[in-house]
Amino acid sequence: MSINWLARTVPQTSGLYPYVPGKPVETLLREKGLSHAVKLASNENPYGPSPKAMAAMCAAAAGVHRYPDGDANQLKEAIAAFHQVHRNQVLLGNGSNEVLELLIRAFAGAGNEVVFSRRAFIVYALAAQAAGAIPVAVAEADGLSHDLDAMAAAVNERTRVVCIANPNNPTGTLHGNDALQRFLDRLPRDVIVIIDEAYYEFVADQLGDSVHELSHPGLVISRTFSKAYGLAGCRVGYAIADAGITALVNRYREPFNVNLLAQVAAVAALDDQQWVLARVADSNAERTRLESALAAWGISGGASFCNFVLLRHEQSGEILRRLEDRGIIPRPLAPYGMVDYLRISVGTAAENSECLQALEAILADLGA
Ligand SMILES: Cc1ncc(COP(=O)(O)O)c(C=O)c1O
Repeated sequence: MSINWLARTVPQTSGLYPYVPGKPVETLLREKGLSHAVKLASNENPYGPSPKAMAAMCAAAAGVHRYPDGDANQLKEAIAAFHQVHRNQVLLGNGSNEVLELLIRAFAGAGNEVVFSRRAFIVYALAAQAAGAIPVAVAEADGLSHDLDAMAAAVNERTRVVCIANPNNPTGTLHGNDALQRFLDRLPRDVIVIIDEAYYEFVADQLGDSVHELSHPGLVISRTFSKAYGLAGCRVGYAIADAGITALVNRYREPFNVNLLAQVAAVAALDDQQWVLARVADSNAERTRLESALAAWGISGGASFCNFVLLRHEQSGEILRRLEDRGIIPRPLAPYGMVDYLRISVGTAAENSECLQALEAILADLGA
């Protein structure tokens, strides 16, 4: 059956393609007939959730026959207190992904432009297209980082939203708040500027308190519980913005977009900062170990400030295939136009050792 009429009815869908997530372990096991695999493809926290978050979810499980609090009051209060902002400034989402999509849908429509780096998180382009807006992908600077000058120059009267991931996925690059504030100062006052801090916790000591240090009337800072907080499967993220912005975006929000277990888990995880700090320290130390090995083998794709490293090799497709044969799942970066690159999430020490052993063997084979 032809579905061409769909593309005519909703023209913005013609260039739209679905987000391709990291390959699930079960899929690789089935594909390769393996009994063990390690997923290093989605920048998850490999250590599991905070015990406090798990206990909170277990305690709340008996209540899931009821809808959750649609306003997630407890979680909003906890986030507001954590950031010392008013609760009306907190916007919650089914993952920060939903927060990004809601913002773009609310502020950018047909004829509007959404500006981002062409090597930035791919959801900005997908969300802009889905909203019927024009995605404007700006070339990156040397070293793959956001070219803030070029991005400021790309902003015009049609621009409604600007997106910056800091630090950025998939490049791992970071801008300091001074550079970001100079960038914000160059932008018109009436654009929405999303600073996506999904990986903030991994650089908290270097970045400082961006929620209070950065300023622009349209500033939105988004964070997630999916990475350092270890709650990717719960799907919960948030943004801090002016109360007028959150009120408008809330009109687009599904009534119960953050589920009951996610709400209680996030409250408990936020309260367990000691656990987060310890896991971030583990992850950053392991990242250094991975990066040193890749650099020693001449296949590092640059320094990363996130919970992943970049591998660069002209035979990255072959390395991907051979890693998967050995039960290691990295993430190919071809969808970002980075065909020579693989992104490898930082796993536990044992998982990383397994990955490095596999890589060493594969490189020896390829060199032979
Ligand atoms: C830069 C960036 N922003 C946002 C997200 C969305 O994460 P989530 O929806 O799990 O909060 C991701 C996920 O990988 C990401 O890398």
